[in-house]
Amino acid sequence: MAALIGLFVGAFVGHMLWRDWGAALGGVAGFVIGEVRDWEFGSPPCGWIFGFDVDPEFRERGIGSMLFDALTTFFRSSGVNTVRTMLRRDDNLIMSFFRSQGLTAGPFIELEKNLDE
Ligand SMILES: CC(C)(COP(=O)(O)OP(=O)(O)OC[C@H]1O[C@@H](n2cnc3c(N)ncnc32)[C@H](O)[C@@H]1OP(=O)(O)O)[C@@H](O)C(=O)NCCC(=O)NCCS
Repeated sequence: MAALIGLFVGAFVGHMLWRDWGAALGGVAGFVIGEVRDWEFGSPPCGWIFGFDVDPEFRERGIGSMLFDALTTFFRSSGVNTVRTMLRRDDNLIMSFFRSQGLTAGPFIELEKNLDE
């Protein structure tokens, strides 16, 4: 349910921006998907961001920041005060973006194993 709300927030913001700019009718300039999760890793409830994308044609105009603000406002209204995400270490673009939003390394590390080996 929360993820659907996050998607809606993203689609709505993107739609409003496109409409205001007159760039396209009925389109989506970007989206963000997230939800509040409260059962994992022994962590207190926190907001997770799962998916984030702005159409390349509309990047570097503040849309990503607006989507982030909309979703974190939703997280706060849901009673959590931490937002988390996961990204590739070598993805400099998304790393730069999340750094710009104030995210830093958290207290958890990811562990994984290739089950085909
Ligand atoms: C990351 C992304 C969402 C940023 O969206 P955006 O609308 O361009 O972001 P903003 O315009 O709000 O930029 C905010 C800050 O992000 C950083 N940033 C954005 N684009 C950047 C770039 N090309 N290079 C370096 N930093 C960048 C800057 O710090 C910027 O602040 P500034 O404008 O004061 O310099 C967008 O580039 C994107 O969709 N990338 C692909 C996402 C992806 O790989 N998703 C899959 C994993 S979920």
